[in-house]
Amino acid sequence: MYEKREVTARVEKQDSLTEDIRELILETPLAEDAMPGQFVNLYCGDGARLLPRPISVCDVFSGRMKLVYRVVGAGTAELAALKAGDTVRMVGNLGNGYDPRTAFGKDVLVVGGGLGVPPMYYLSRLLHMLGLRGGAESPATLTMVLGYRDEASTFMKLAFTGFGRVVFASDDGSIGMKGTVVDAIRAENISCDVIYACGPLPMLRAVASYAREKSTDEKNIKCYVSLEERMACGIGACLGCVTKTTQPDEHSRVNNARICVEGPVFDAEMIAW
Ligand SMILES: Cc1cc2nc3c(=O)[nH]c(=O)nc-3n(C[C@H](O)[C@H](O)[C@H](O)COP(=O)(O)OP(=O)(O)OC[C@H]3O[C@@H](n4cnc5c(N)ncnc54)[C@H](O)[C@@H]3O)c2cc1C
Ligand code: FES
Repeated sequence: MYEKREVTARVEKQDSLTEDIRELILETPLAEDAMPGQFVNLYCGDGARLLPRPISVCDVFSGRMKLVYRVVGAGTAELAALKAGDTVRMVGNLGNGYDPRTAFGKDVLVVGGGLGVPPMYYLSRLLHMLGLRGGAESPATLTMVLGYRDEASTFMKLAFTGFGRVVFASDDGSIGMKGTVVDAIRAENISCDVIYACGPLPMLRAVASYAREKSTDEKNIKCYVSLEERMACGIGACLGCVTKTTQPDEHSRVNNARICVEGPVFDAEMIAW
C-alpha cells in the first residue's frame, strides 16, 4: 500500500459520454494502487480556484486511471477543457475505499445512482474478477442496480454487462423500471447479504434503511455507503466534511467522522442518518 502522494498526470484522452458527462483517461502512477471507492483530488490551473476537485476512481488499467465526472461549475469546466497531452496536478489515492473481503462468500448487491455509478464500475469489475477465480475469496453472486434520471442522462449503461445481473431504474421509466433503485430491488426481489452503494444522500439513506428492514436475527445484511459530500482540503485538515456518526471517532473522540479520511465509505450503521 502506497502513501497518498502528489503527482503530475498526463491526459491520454477525454470524451463526452453525454451533454455534461466526461470520461477522462489519465496516465498516472496513482493507477498502480488505487482501490475501488477511493478518490483523487485534481488541482485546477486557475489560481482563483485553489480548492481541489475530488473525483472518484472509475477504473484503472495499464498505468491509466479513468475518471467520469459531470461538468457542474468552474472547476469541472476547466477539467473538461483538458486535451490529450495536457498535464494536471493530482493528489491520491484518498479515502478508504470498499473492502472486497467483506464480499467473500456473499450474495453481493452493488447499487449506483447518477454520479454514484462510475465508482461502482471498478468495484463491480474487481468483484467479478474475484468471482472468476472462485474459492473462498470470491463473492457468491453479484447483482448491480443502476439508477438514472432518464434515458437521455444515462452513461456507462453497457459497461457493467458481463459482470453479473444488471437491473436499471429511472425516475421516468425511460430506462429500466420506473422508480428508485430501492423500488427496483423490491420489484425484482433481489436477495443479498451485503450491499455497496454510492449516489445521492436520499438514495443512500433509502438503501441503508432497506438493508435494516430486511435484516433478521439469522441474516444481518451489511450495507456500506460512500458519502460523496462537498469537500475542501480533502486530506483531513479542515474538518469541512464531517458527518455525524453513531460511534465516537478515534481521531476526535466525538460522534463525528471526516468523510475524506475515515470515509468516504462507511458501514451504514455508523452514520447518524
Ligand atoms: C469523494 C468525492 C467523490 C466525487 N466523485 C465524483 C465523480 O466521480 N464524478 C463527479 O462528477 N463528481 C464527483 N464528485 C463531485 C465533484 O467533486 C464536484 O462536482 C466538483 O468538485 C464541483 O466542482 P466545480 O468547481 O465544477 O463546481 P462548483 O462551482 O464548486 O459547484 C457547482 C455546483 O456543483 C455542486 N457541487 C459541488 N460539489 C459537489 C459535490 N461534492 N456533490 C454534489 N454537488 C456538488 C454545487 O453545489 C454547485 O451547485 C465527488 C465528490 C466527492 C466529495
Ligand atoms: S475536506 Fe478537509 S477534513 Fe475533509
